[in-house]
Amino acid sequence: MSTLTRITIDVPGSPTVLLIGRGAIGQVADVLAGASVAVRDRRVLLVVDGNVMAVGARIDQSLRTAGAHTATVRLTATELGKSVASVESIWHAALAHGLGRTGLILAIGGGIIGDLAGFAAATFLRGVECVQVPTTLLAMVDAAIGGKTGINLPLPGGGLGKNLAGAFLQPRLAIADPDVLSTLPARELRAGLAECIKHAVIAGLPHFEFLERRIELLAAGDPMALGELIPLSAAVKAGIVARDPLERGERAVLNLGHTFGHAIETMPGADLLHGEAVAIGMVAACRCAVVRGLLAVADADRIERLIERAGLPTRLPSSLSAPESAGEIRRRMGFDKKVDGEGLRLILPHAVGDVRIVAIPPAADRRPDGHPDDDDGVQAGIAAIASAR
Ligand SMILES: NC(=O)c1ccc[n+]([C@@H]2O[C@H](COP(=O)([O-])OP(=O)(O)OC[C@H]3O[C@@H](n4cnc5c(N)ncnc54)[C@H](O)[C@@H]3O)[C@@H](O)[C@H]2O)c1
Repeated sequence: MSTLTRITIDVPGSPTVLLIGRGAIGQVADVLAGASVAVRDRRVLLVVDGNVMAVGARIDQSLRTAGAHTATVRLTATELGKSVASVESIWHAALAHGLGRTGLILAIGGGIIGDLAGFAAATFLRGVECVQVPTTLLAMVDAAIGGKTGINLPLPGGGLGKNLAGAFLQPRLAIADPDVLSTLPARELRAGLAECIKHAVIAGLPHFEFLERRIELLAAGDPMALGELIPLSAAVKAGIVARDPLERGERAVLNLGHTFGHAIETMPGADLLHGEAVAIGMVAACRCAVVRGLLAVADADRIERLIERAGLPTRLPSSLSAPESAGEIRRRMGFDKKVDGEGLRLILPHAVGDVRIVAIPPAADRRPDGHPDDDDGVQAGIAAIASAR
């Protein structure tokens, strides 16, 4: 096992550590022991993504050898399956395994499994310890950090509302082994790069330029480049979460591209991965910021260019090209959790390294001389991603 890079997420009351290192998976019990997480004679429930059962089996082996009593729940990672029914299946497995308050739940998979298992851990017996073992790039730099857990809910008007029920539970520990990314489909890897680009836009020019220099290598899954990127990108989220664990303020900037993205992602026929929807959402947010006079066109172009070079979409898929799609995306944005009263709270870049929360007032409160037709830039943002390049 290579030396582990340690990133501390200093959340008051529940500090968390992210350990990153090649080969960590095969020695999970040692890694846990090194972080003072005891497993001997402890009941441990492994919640494993069906596509990484081999990773789950290696972890299981390591834990059993160290004296843990383990059981495994296998789940299929889909947004539809990020549901109450899946959480219930984890609760039932925990009961069947006799998991008590001192039990441990290990989430082994991408963000879907991490959110599901984390939510089950936050709620089972009003909370048991959870360790995250992210197996996608997105989960390593984003989903496994920060303690947000949750599930999707069906929306009243149809469609799926993303992450509308959930809880905060800081994992005791997160363990990221970049070697497991070798089996990740290329499209999923690129989707993870969308969140890395988001972190770079938040962090500033040196970080953004790092990505500009290596983006093709990263998109091709180069292990060296990924090994450099993961701690860099994870540290951006870790720093923000430590300063604002419950999203009372600054943490909202991590939702850059997400208010548009969530609405796009849940459109029928969208067929987009979360990271792809976030990539398109970031383009919409940039164009919205340009229309509002907050961001220079050159900066919006530069961000869009990086997204494109990562092999990510910058426009809506052809399945959403009908004119009524734009209105439906806008309607769905109204269900986003960043909705404040009747208005929207958008996260808009003012420059690379300067991302801010901007309140978009409800239609009735807008200035008559303002932007009544373009919805204060929101509809212009949607129009930009609907346009040809
Ligand atoms: N909690 C948070 O703070 C947070 C942050 C960002 C995203 N999320 C959530 O994370 C989810 C997206 O996560 P994701 O992008 O990791 O996707 P995912 O969990 O759907 O995983 C992507 C796909 O890759 C497969 N997979 C995972 N690891 C693999 C591996 N090593 N090899 C082969 N296949 C593998 C999965 O089975 C799945 O088919 C969304 O539901 C999103 O809402 C949560």
